[in-house]
Amino acid sequence: MTKMRQTIRFGIIGLGLMGREFGSAAARWCHLLNLDFVPRITAICDTNDKLFDWFDSNFDSIQVRTNNYHDLLNSDAVDAIYCAVPHNLHAQFYVDIIRSGKHLLGEKPFGIDLQANQQIMDVISQNPDVVVACSSEFPFFPGAQRIIRYINENRFGKIIQVEAGLLHSSDLDPNKKINWKRMIEVNGEYGCMGDLGMHPLHIPLRAGWMPKRVYAQLNKIVTQRPNASGTLVPCETWDNATINCEVETTGQQFPMTIQTYRIAPGETNTWYIRVSGTDFSAEYSSKYPKTLRTMSYTPGGEQAWTVLDLGYETAYPTITGGIFEFGFSDGILQMWAAFCDQLANGREGMLQPFYCATPAETAQHHRILTAALESGKQKQVITLD
Ligand SMILES: NC(=O)c1ccc[n+]([C@@H]2O[C@H](COP(=O)([O-])OP(=O)(O)OC[C@H]3O[C@@H](n4cnc5c(N)ncnc54)[C@H](O)[C@@H]3O)[C@@H](O)[C@H]2O)c1
Repeated sequence: MTKMRQTIRFGIIGLGLMGREFGSAAARWCHLLNLDFVPRITAICDTNDKLFDWFDSNFDSIQVRTNNYHDLLNSDAVDAIYCAVPHNLHAQFYVDIIRSGKHLLGEKPFGIDLQANQQIMDVISQNPDVVVACSSEFPFFPGAQRIIRYINENRFGKIIQVEAGLLHSSDLDPNKKINWKRMIEVNGEYGCMGDLGMHPLHIPLRAGWMPKRVYAQLNKIVTQRPNASGTLVPCETWDNATINCEVETTGQQFPMTIQTYRIAPGETNTWYIRVSGTDFSAEYSSKYPKTLRTMSYTPGGEQAWTVLDLGYETAYPTITGGIFEFGFSDGILQMWAAFCDQLANGREGMLQPFYCATPAETAQHHRILTAALESGKQKQVITLD
């Protein structure tokens, strides 16, 4: 007999690139096996009416469609919100959502800057019963899950170096029209770091690798872009950032390099992490979604990397055969399952141990990005308390 599943009624605010990814993940929930919860999209909100059509033609569960997000917060048909709006709106929207008592899976960077993030954090602490998490899907890729397991098992010995990054190529084209992600007032002064930083920092922060010192190199490569009518306008945001960090943990001190690049020739949203240690090293890149590289080392032994095709090895079981590939939309689905799992079963009762990025991790990442911004401007090392 089929087990009763808890239905979690979601409203989506922001129906653009990411809003639709979430819609599609809800429609594909049958992909997941043995879950005692299921999301249902009951409300949608965007200032652009044209975006309602795709949802209306693919979901028969929508009861509220509106240009005003407060309608979702006041609705009895909504338990939780997925919010994917430009960064300048995060603080106001997230604060209002949390105050309304709706649970929130919010998009990164969780506030346009450190101050905005602090406003969100203050409201979270005043509403402890509301479940709040930040979207970050790459740690749900199979190879990333393995690396998280190796970190938890202390497999690496003394850590030599950590490297992680997110590499885009899409802004290499100087004729690409400017959009809000290239405008300081909407995307934030962090530029590429606010846009991409949470992705490479999620696993290091979960591992406890909060840097003590930061030195960042920030680059503006394409300084003008055409606007919608083709006129060249200033493009003021940072395109690329290399954030060199010094991490000190109990008995260990090691360099950690975080790359957030909007311009990396040939890359298409490549996310990677590489952890090198005296006993064990491991690396994974979304460029080769099946493949995990590891190297075990014993003193005097050979230094030989092992290449393992993991296939479709996931946190939550699915119908997909183990030999197939995992991709971006699978990462979104797994992350959403983790958020619903936390909502339905509590963090301690989750069906698997890896939970979504926490508000506290977003606050740590804001401290790193703020230090990186200062470092890049002053060309100095910034010490974090
Ligand atoms: N997790 C990821 O991999 C990932 C990838 C891309 C973007 N993002 C994040 O998702 C968020 C949204 O990015 P996107 O790429 O989907 O942007 P987008 O521009 O495609 O979509 C944003 C939507 O918000 C809507 N909007 C703007 N003002 C609004 C308002 N006042 N009320 C309601 N809706 C409003 C816009 O009309 C638009 O449809 C950002 O925080 C971004 O950093 C995350």
